[in-house]
Amino acid sequence: MNQHVSATHTPVLLEEAMKALAVQPGGRYIDCTLGNGGHAAAILKQSSPGGQLLGIDADPSAIENARQRLAEWAGATQLVNDNFVNLQSICLKYDFQPVHGILLDLGLSSMQLDTEGRGFSFRNDAPLDMRFDPQQTITAADIVNRYGETELADIIRNYGEEINSQRIARCIIDARPLKSTRQLAQVVERALGSRKNSKIHPATRTFQALRIAVNHELENLEATLKQAVSLLGFGGRLVVISYHSLEDRIVKQFLHRESRDCICPPTTPECICQHTASLQLVNKKVIKPSAEEIARNPRSRSARLRAAERVFVNDDYRDASEGLCFAIGKNENGWRRPLLLERLRTTFWAS
Ligand SMILES: C[S@@+](CC[C@H](N)C(=O)[O-])C[C@H]1O[C@@H](n2cnc3c(N)ncnc32)[C@H](O)[C@@H]1O
Repeated sequence: MNQHVSATHTPVLLEEAMKALAVQPGGRYIDCTLGNGGHAAAILKQSSPGGQLLGIDADPSAIENARQRLAEWAGATQLVNDNFVNLQSICLKYDFQPVHGILLDLGLSSMQLDTEGRGFSFRNDAPLDMRFDPQQTITAADIVNRYGETELADIIRNYGEEINSQRIARCIIDARPLKSTRQLAQVVERALGSRKNSKIHPATRTFQALRIAVNHELENLEATLKQAVSLLGFGGRLVVISYHSLEDRIVKQFLHRESRDCICPPTTPECICQHTASLQLVNKKVIKPSAEEIARNPRSRSARLRAAERVFVNDDYRDASEGLCFAIGKNENGWRRPLLLERLRTTFWAS
């Protein structure tokens, strides 16, 4: 199978992401979705001198591309081929915490989408693969050819927000075995008929659903957001760029919950949750790409950026005599230990 790769990936909301991360010289940053290293290069440039970057990607070819692109900062970068769902253990392994900022630029890169043979796009004919990590065992072909009708319809409805999921699932089952992206796209087209008024290809939602299911994208995102907060020093920033409403909803709900002191249901007469805010929203309204960015890079059109800043929480404490701040972290054996949190931003130091 042809492995032709598109030349590059244009980083989305680049200026906005740098501003939201508040990148500063000497800072320590994590890019959980290294891709082609576009955001990572900007972070390294803006954090020099003295900046450090830990870059993660599940796709080994992304790591190799980024390694070449970031070669001039090789001494300041640690690149890790892993799933970002293992964020906490990766940071423990490389002793990389607390940090000044964490970026997640979700989904897939243009290189992955355009690489024939990866099976992400119905525009190329390729095996039904769709894995970010080629070591992972389950592929889109496994789901399409082995799952029952109800399970398939649930995936297509829940992850693709496709109202005709039942009909598509039935047609997939009737057409099995399906081997290639083109075969699947044709089955979905037949199931839905021609949609002259629709702006998107009839198979778009089904392909998105399968990619999300193959890579456990929503579960991984939820689990990673929780870990990210615990790795940020005071005033450290968490920035997430998402590309569809399912991701954005998870990010929005998480940031809103973690920036409130009480998360009891509104009907509860008195607070019983004992929840404390660990974040403060940086942007109350979601940030979207400008018309110019969309014209320059149409793939940015669905991007949504949200950001929040780490605040002082109960478990953290200050040593007033030393003038230092600590948070409770975990060492390599999982035991709690105080972590020195640097003086990242005077506003939070003073508060
Ligand atoms: C939109 S691209 C990032 C592009 C990058 N910001 C740039 O400027 O080049 C998303 C990247 O995240 C990676 N990715 C997606 N989910 C992942 C996960 N759970 N763990 C690690 N990497 C993941 C994909 O392999 C892909 O390379």
